[in-house]
Amino acid sequence: MRRPLVAGNWKMHGTRASVAELIKGLRLLALPTGVEVAVFPPCLYINQVMTGLDGKAIAVGAQNCAVEPMQGALTGEIASSQLADAGCTLVLVGHSERRQILGESDELLSRKFAAAQSCGLTPVLCIGETLAQREAGKTLEVVGRQLGSVIEELGVGAFARAVIAYEPVWAIGTGLTATPEQAQEVHAAIRAQLQAENAEVARGVRILYGGSVKAANAVELFGMPDIDGGLIGGASLNADEFGAICRAAGN
Ligand code: 13P
Repeated sequence: MRRPLVAGNWKMHGTRASVAELIKGLRLLALPTGVEVAVFPPCLYINQVMTGLDGKAIAVGAQNCAVEPMQGALTGEIASSQLADAGCTLVLVGHSERRQILGESDELLSRKFAAAQSCGLTPVLCIGETLAQREAGKTLEVVGRQLGSVIEELGVGAFARAVIAYEPVWAIGTGLTATPEQAQEVHAAIRAQLQAENAEVARGVRILYGGSVKAANAVELFGMPDIDGGLIGGASLNADEFGAICRAAGN
């Protein structure tokens, strides 16, 4: 049985004051025991969140890591070894905002994925198609290529210690959610791609759905057989809403 994971990606949101408020709200949540919960604050606030959530069963991750695993001369970047030192256990790799706005390539992302794993962090590989790609009938091809590039570089075994997040770009921050059936189709294809190389890895890997998940649509999405939780953007900035989504994963 795969343990569901609900992860909140705070993106570039927050101030010390608003983060303190959010921590307060998260501390009050009654979280379901069978669900793993994580938050990904901006790096600047990781320390504050780590301290603030001390003793609460919520893991803390980073939204990005450097291509180089160890500290060194790379201005403006943060090494996976430093994230691990700060207490992070997870890191997002290849969020569509970084792929699209910052031009991160599949090749670069494989290096970040490997860097994270070499420091004991669990990478959460984000993949997903744009609206134009979906409308052109290329969804499975695009997602298959994004996943395939990491498998090719690092081997399917790398996914024994990783999480995948399927986030259709057209559903991110738009209020448009993939239907449970649309999401399930892609999740099943992702698992089948892994299955073709290693059945055990395919069975064990958690595939999260992301894109306008709210408490109101979470139960239906999480009810699909290959959806193992969610990567939540906007709704994760509200502790009560986020808590309700976590509970939906426990049903
Ligand atoms: P929203 O939940 O705001 O659509 O964002 C999803 C996302 O990008 C999470 O990484």
